[in-house]
Amino acid sequence: MAPRTRPAEPAVLRFPAGFRWGAATASYQIEGAATEDGRTPSIWDTYARTPGRVFQGHSGDVACDHYHRYRDDVRLMAELGLGTYRFSVAWPRIKPDGSGPVNARGLDFYDRLVDELLAHGIAPMATLYHWDLPQVLEDRGGWTSRDTAYHLADLAAATVARLGDRVATWTTLNEPWCSAFLGYGSGDHAPGRQDPAAALEAVHHLLLGHGLAVRALRAGGAREVSLTLNLACVRPDDPADPHDLAAVRHIDGLHNRIWLDPVLKGGYPQDMRALLARFGADRKIQPGDENVIASPIDLLGVNFYQPSRVRAGVGVDCGPANPGSEGCEYVPQDLPVTAMGWPVDATALYELLMRLSTDYPGTPLMITENGAAYDDVLDGDRVADTDRIGYLDGHLRAVHAALSEGADLRGYLAWSLLDNYEWAYGYGKRFGIVHVDYDTQRRTPKDSARWFADVIGRNGLC
Ligand code: FCB
Repeated sequence: MAPRTRPAEPAVLRFPAGFRWGAATASYQIEGAATEDGRTPSIWDTYARTPGRVFQGHSGDVACDHYHRYRDDVRLMAELGLGTYRFSVAWPRIKPDGSGPVNARGLDFYDRLVDELLAHGIAPMATLYHWDLPQVLEDRGGWTSRDTAYHLADLAAATVARLGDRVATWTTLNEPWCSAFLGYGSGDHAPGRQDPAAALEAVHHLLLGHGLAVRALRAGGAREVSLTLNLACVRPDDPADPHDLAAVRHIDGLHNRIWLDPVLKGGYPQDMRALLARFGADRKIQPGDENVIASPIDLLGVNFYQPSRVRAGVGVDCGPANPGSEGCEYVPQDLPVTAMGWPVDATALYELLMRLSTDYPGTPLMITENGAAYDDVLDGDRVADTDRIGYLDGHLRAVHAALSEGADLRGYLAWSLLDNYEWAYGYGKRFGIVHVDYDTQRRTPKDSARWFADVIGRNGLC
């Protein structure tokens, strides 16, 4: 008798029990209500109003009007089965003058949001700083001023005092690389300064603010404290060329080690310390700062979008967002790209996660942002965003592969729940798994949202 073969079972890639699934947003990108209930302008309000800075002069004045529609948005999250929602608080709502008294009405909004999330079984994950520094603090030096670090800690204390009984997971900063190097180096982000020394001073004060905020959060009873970094997988153009490898080392230093080593290894790596010194920013480092910065965290958030490739060259550099990068250049990669022009290669996420596991063991990881912008077309009540599904599927497979090889990865949050204000690109780029019609504020879950809901429902990929 011929052997009976069982029909092949669909291979489901299962994620560990308790894996946290969700989506992320940020205050300035979705809330709108820019002048309501005592909110003052942030550096992004100012930047958006500066001619030529943001695509078509778009601002976050209305954005997704989430400030008024948060109930509907939470219902949508629940329909999609999200277990975690990562949002950020707007500093200029909570402390309108940056450093002074707390504005209760500003905190009231997050209080309502958190209650709504919990009522729908969704765990809130709060980020203190996702780039909307009160303009009044920028007028006093912004992140080039040491005081700003202490003001962040005060914001942490005030926020955890109000929400800490219900919010378990806290993040100090989102992507300080962008705050420092795009905000003060290239000027592509608010406040739009172009000064390498200021960018490196900002690095130190952001890190110091992180450490002080960790301590304030713990003192306020926070249960899980984290930092979210946009880490890079930087590859050499020619892995056999020592000059290319040196270029990789510098860019890796700026994107990864200048943040990771102080937080997880107790101090700046030598080459980055030398870079701070070269631009005179090391004089901002005071005795004891590195101890504060190394205050233990419970979770490292990883935001990942694209791989990078660099090589050595003569008379080139990696631009003003990469101070000290003379002799290195980015190399175009022969890969498909998103609507941002960002190359797509999920193997880079796998490599990054394995590298973090090897070089920085012992800190649980979470993907706190991953996703892609595409030129979506709303057709009736449907957006057939197959490219985005492909992107998310590929990156989740990479996450799964890293998990299978021992990476301690606790969850995955898609960027973003909603189409929103994509910083200097305004509303021109759509990252949401839910489409937003900015004229009517109608939300339409894209095919990717339904696909993601299925993944969450089965805790796995088919
Ligand atoms: C990240 C930001 C987030 C969003 C995505 C596309 O750098 O943290 O706010 O803009 O990129």
